[in-house]
Amino acid sequence: MTPRTPDDAGAPPRHVAIIMDGNGRWAKARGLPRFEGHRRGVEALRRAVRAASEFGIATLTVYGFSAENWRRPAPEVDYLMGLLRRFVRNDLAELHAAGVRVRIIGRRAGLAPDIVALLDEAQALTAANDALTLVVAFNYGGRQEIADAARRLAREVAAGRLSAEAIDEAALGRALDAPDLPDPDLVIRTSGERRLSNFLLWQAAYAEFVFLPTLWPDFDRADFAAALAEYASRERRFGDVVARPAANAS
Ligand code: IPE
Ligand code: IPE
Ligand code: MG
Repeated sequence: MTPRTPDDAGAPPRHVAIIMDGNGRWAKARGLPRFEGHRRGVEALRRAVRAASEFGIATLTVYGFSAENWRRPAPEVDYLMGLLRRFVRNDLAELHAAGVRVRIIGRRAGLAPDIVALLDEAQALTAANDALTLVVAFNYGGRQEIADAARRLAREVAAGRLSAEAIDEAALGRALDAPDLPDPDLVIRTSGERRLSNFLLWQAAYAEFVFLPTLWPDFDRADFAAALAEYASRERRFGDVVARPAANAS
């Protein structure tokens, strides 16, 4: 993938990450139960995956379930777990046929064994695909991911395989859940909320943020295009005084 430079400011971001928010409010506004908003949110996810491919985006990360979402009432958590099962069972073949490579970030521990198996199956089946990488953040928290990475490095040091002095940004980055993927260039959050909610804390250090009022079940190609247009108008400096290409940021 060629890096963005000041001369090709119209190029699409390599990696877009989306905080899919507002399902509950979408349902409430229609007098429907929250789960109906989540169900419709899966349709918006399908639209987003198709649009990302069309827009030439290489990697799309979506926040499906946060480490903090376990605080929700048990029936809602159960519904969201069921929705993930159905999404993988119903959509995996189609995603695979479309050349989508599925990756999962987040803690496996705490998820039901059959869900872990489904996620592993989705990753294994699509590992060689190269059209679009779809990263699903599930049972994911940025702080937990960084803490897990620190623990992995500490084990290496304790085992004598790594010196403490060798721990730098690159080493910590390599210990994260998906070290081979580029950092997100653009983070989109729907529903009008303006916060990260523990999403990609390390990776979004220099991301551009676009907050849209659209509730996630209504998110469509036009919203995605609007976010990309906003991104294209931004000048990324990465600490410099002039615009710098993203790939040379660090
Ligand atoms: C996002 O919609 C979906 C998940 C967090 C799983 P919400 O369920 O957070 O919807 P609101 O924010 O309550 O409207
Ligand atoms: C973030 O949304 C998590 C996902 C979209 C999966 P939340 O709705 O859980 O975030 P808060 O609680 O409003 O910050
Ligand atoms: Mg929410």
